[in-house]
Amino acid sequence: MTRKAKSQLARWVSTPPAFNVPMSQHTTLRVGGLADALVHVKTLSELRSLVQFCRERDIPLFILGEGSNLIVRDGGIRGVVLRLGGELEQVNFNTTKVTVGGGVYLPHLIVQAARKGLSGLERCTGVPGTVGGALISNAGTADEFIGDLVQSVTVLTEEGEVRELSRDELRFGYRWSNLREKGLIVVGAALNLQPDEPSAIMERIHHRWRYRRQTQPVNQPCAGCIFKNPPGERAGRLLEAAGLKGVRIGDAQVSPLHANFIVNLGKATANDVLTLAEHMRQTVHERFGILLEYEVQIVGDD
Ligand code: EPU
Repeated sequence: MTRKAKSQLARWVSTPPAFNVPMSQHTTLRVGGLADALVHVKTLSELRSLVQFCRERDIPLFILGEGSNLIVRDGGIRGVVLRLGGELEQVNFNTTKVTVGGGVYLPHLIVQAARKGLSGLERCTGVPGTVGGALISNAGTADEFIGDLVQSVTVLTEEGEVRELSRDELRFGYRWSNLREKGLIVVGAALNLQPDEPSAIMERIHHRWRYRRQTQPVNQPCAGCIFKNPPGERAGRLLEAAGLKGVRIGDAQVSPLHANFIVNLGKATANDVLTLAEHMRQTVHERFGILLEYEVQIVGDD
């Protein structure tokens, strides 16, 4: 971004933007170079105005959730990175429906719903992302997804128009949705939940948490599963069978606990992580003839 664009941006938004921000501080894998600008947007009208600002000046815009399913390359991100807060982080329960902003932190929502005696979101236990990010990538387990709960999703289009997409207009697949279409920003959603005993819901959450803690490196910097499970197979099983557990490039290591996770042992770069991921992919391809597809989102300049 030019200096002029940066100073215009600073005047345009209500919360002062941060410039040249290390994305390693905003991703759970703790890698990634500098973003030109990071902006916190508090209202839908401010978001619309920012989309217009960027469009008029040809400035790329990237929506950051919790940075938990994301690898930012070492050259960082050009343009504006934005996070949704304020009214875009609100939660409203209405009998068995919950209306949520795209910036809502999913782990908090899961517990709030459980306390209200509303079940369904347990499938997302341990997904450390925002609702918007979870919807775009249809987060969940290997066979239960957040998309199954959706009644409607509210988006902001590239043209600055707010649209409510009904269930019929939405497509959810395995770690995929048509919300990925260019330029759509998920600003909110209405989810359908089921009434149940709060204690029974909490017990299911604890059960899933125990499983995650036993099988995934939840206390180490990582970005969740690197690859999608191929049809009828498990990427983790193939990667382990190919002898990849524990393999290291720099400070990036294939988790000894779950072979579909790469952990950052301290000073890993995005280049270490991506070189290791390609090595994993090639090894599985040579061994089993299966080319794994990336599940994490990879963005930024080399
Ligand atoms: N397995 C191995 N070796 C490993 C890892 C797994 O042999 O290193 C085997 C396990 O023994 C098990 C099978 O693979 O028999 C499945 O493992 P797991 O239950 O851990 O599930 P997964 O398919 O590896 C999926 C999702 C996870 C989600 C878990 C738990 C994908 C790519 N992954 O993992 O989602 O947390 O189920 O529900 O669909 C993510 O989306 O980032 C993610 C981590």
